[in-house]
Amino acid sequence: MKNITRIALSCMLGLGAVIPMQAQQVHGFVHEQSKASDYVWPTDKEVLNKLDQWQDQKFGVLLHWGLYSVPGIVESWSICSEDVDWIPRDASMSYVDYKKWYFGLKDKFNPVKFDPQQWAEVMQDAGMKYVIFTTKHHDGFCMFDSKYTDFSIAHGAFKNDPRKNVAYHVFDAFRNKGFMIGCYFSKPDWHCEWYWNPYYATPNRRENYKRDQHPDWWKNYVHFTQNQLDELMTDYGSFDILWLDGGWVTGDDINLDGVLEKARKTHPGLISVDRSIRGKNENYQTPERGIPETQLNYPWESCITLSNDWGWVPNAPYKSSEKVIATLAEIVAKGGCYVLGVGPTPEGIIEQPVVERLHKVGEWLRKNGEAIYSTRTTPVYHDGNTWFTANKDGETLYAIYTVNDGEQLPATITWKGNVPKGKMVLLANGKKVKYRCDGDQVTVTVPKGLAAESLAFRFKIEK
Ligand code: GLC
Repeated sequence: MKNITRIALSCMLGLGAVIPMQAQQVHGFVHEQSKASDYVWPTDKEVLNKLDQWQDQKFGVLLHWGLYSVPGIVESWSICSEDVDWIPRDASMSYVDYKKWYFGLKDKFNPVKFDPQQWAEVMQDAGMKYVIFTTKHHDGFCMFDSKYTDFSIAHGAFKNDPRKNVAYHVFDAFRNKGFMIGCYFSKPDWHCEWYWNPYYATPNRRENYKRDQHPDWWKNYVHFTQNQLDELMTDYGSFDILWLDGGWVTGDDINLDGVLEKARKTHPGLISVDRSIRGKNENYQTPERGIPETQLNYPWESCITLSNDWGWVPNAPYKSSEKVIATLAEIVAKGGCYVLGVGPTPEGIIEQPVVERLHKVGEWLRKNGEAIYSTRTTPVYHDGNTWFTANKDGETLYAIYTVNDGEQLPATITWKGNVPKGKMVLLANGKKVKYRCDGDQVTVTVPKGLAAESLAFRFKIEK
């Protein structure tokens, strides 16, 4: 096994070096997007309230942690036998052996440094306000102590640790810091025999049999899935968001309506994200690894990785703090929230390069958060690199001028529209800045001696 791990690891390390920029766009199965016309406003008042509260948070973290974190490879997908270039697999093994090796990682996953407290501190320091954690990814490996399977962290190498019910402790640590809490759960389960039945080969991501030929298998899978969702919604404290991935199984397939009806008794207003399924159980949409072209005035969230991968990989090429800040400004101006993908290490901590980048993002937010949190959109939402957000009073606007990596601040910043009345203030130091207007063109003089980072200004407009 040791040898196999080594081969796999060196294969992956090699891969790490060749994942090119272009691969970044295609890497990972990017879910088909729901469109604006697919959005259905909820009718449940409590869901609407919760969505409103969630839209104030703006910035969260999507933590992928699972078997794939042990060797540091693509999340789950390497056991899916689809002939596409973004699914890498150790070529020295047959598919059958590979799957065996992968599932066997259960006995290697021993996160002795598991420190959810540190995770929550790092994310709080970054200015994040909500968390979504992978309780179960497509590979079926549970990061919680499920009553319905032994294929979990609580029955592997970590079984004797008092914190073996990992998800419980993760949610607890973030709850203690006041985060909104989201439960990621994959509907498809590639370990469950009622989804990928051992009688047949497993040629793709879907169940590997015909539902009408094997209605009992399918029924068992549905019960298993419902039971696990019920268990998560019962034994793991309060939740704000249920984030369901794997859109090739729909909510209707598992009677999500029933699951939600029950869950909302314990978690009033629970936001359901049956992603890419469209309709009433997709309470917010989830554009993946990108930002919508235009402003969208209904609830949505861009999920974007900090490196190229969702889970931890060795020597990951992390994006810069400037990039994260600029992305946040654009997303918020367009009306969305930003959930940043971060993978804890196989030992169970957030690694230093992530901590450093996120700390810088937090430093910026501590000075400029007023332009981000609890804001709403304004019709003229950008001009070039300047993004506009609005205070809920509808009168106060913020202009966020974002810089690219290594870019110096210009002497002046110019935009069209959103003409200020009265004074304009630089949020970073609370001081007045000079500006002049030429028709609807506004030119702001950038004060001298500022650090080269994104700048946010506050001003009022005529209502
Ligand atoms: C994509 C990936 C999936 C990942 C998810 C996170 O759907 O295929 O593995 O968990 O994005 O947004």
